[in-house]
Amino acid sequence: MRRRVDESVASKRNEEKGVKNKVQVQTRSSWWVWVKRALIALCTLYVTTPFVLRLFPSVMQYLVYKHAVTYFVDLSRPSDLGLNHTVNMYLTSEEGVTLGVWLTVPEQKWKESQGKGLEWYEQSLGDGSPVFIYFHGNTGNRAAPHRVGVANVLSSLGYHAVVIDYRGFGDSTGEPTQDGLTTDALYLYHWVRARSKDSPVFIWGHSLGTAVSSGIAVILQEKGNPVDAVILEGAFTAGKLQKGQPHPFTWYYWRFPYIQYYFSLDSIEANKLELSNVENLKKMRTPLMILHSKDDHMAPFWMAEELYNTAKSAMKSEEKVQLVAFDGSHGYLHNGLYRDPALPNYIREFVQSVAK
Ligand SMILES: *[C@@H]1O[C@H](CO)[C@@H](O)[C@H](O)[C@H]1NC(C)=O
Repeated sequence: MRRRVDESVASKRNEEKGVKNKVQVQTRSSWWVWVKRALIALCTLYVTTPFVLRLFPSVMQYLVYKHAVTYFVDLSRPSDLGLNHTVNMYLTSEEGVTLGVWLTVPEQKWKESQGKGLEWYEQSLGDGSPVFIYFHGNTGNRAAPHRVGVANVLSSLGYHAVVIDYRGFGDSTGEPTQDGLTTDALYLYHWVRARSKDSPVFIWGHSLGTAVSSGIAVILQEKGNPVDAVILEGAFTAGKLQKGQPHPFTWYYWRFPYIQYYFSLDSIEANKLELSNVENLKKMRTPLMILHSKDDHMAPFWMAEELYNTAKSAMKSEEKVQLVAFDGSHGYLHNGLYRDPALPNYIREFVQSVAK
């Protein structure tokens, strides 16, 4: 009798257990379905993106410039980002194209700058301190931390920093194209030159901006009005790609070489992305400093070495070109050089060597 009771209790327990197990299986299976769906969606995106790009080159343009990526800041208020000696202004490089620009004066002028308007900033450009025009890379706008970081480094060295958002970037109007970016950059350069009097004017390009920089440096040189010097940070060599050669903006596909085919010549040329630093540096005779981190994941370090060698043999001079390499252990990657404590010294020495 006792035994039977025990048995029935045990079987009841087992039944309960069975129910519990079922519930667990059900929750786990619905969770698993979602994970599977997410994984399938990711794989589909990963595989189809190159095909979509092949079919719709305008998507490629979007990917390369990524101009629509915005940071949620009010670009008319640079002081929100600690740039308390900066004025926001707008230039019209071409009918219908309005460009947002920040002018930052040397740090020692920050007190004097309080409450001053654009006119004061414009006049300051001619105060004899070097002026740097900064051409940024392919994502976001002039408020990105690494761009503000470079402006701060330059300003603390006693230089002016002029930072532009090309057409289609930030609060600038228009759509980015290679010709458009070049037009904007040249326009800004002439605008600065008209105010800088005897101050030397330098160009600093980063990433995609390196091609814009070397491009206008060549144009200005050919017109007999060369830039005083150029700094290229995180520069890349790929302009006209050879088939199978990876494009720097598709680094996340590098591990899967077959996909590179879809990024080869056609879609690139359809958008006139002839952003060739190599071709430009073959012609450029302007003093040049190349800054590059050894752990750069977008533009691998060998690209900087190739550019350095190209410029050195083109200029037939060791003195007018230098390559400053930053150790990979710092983790600067593609954007972080501005954090290097030795950077201000490299820049100061370069500026002094050019001014001599
Ligand atoms: C303004 O900026 C300068 C230079 O970066 C800094 O030294 C100063 O402390 C700032 N002043 C204020 C009130 O934030």
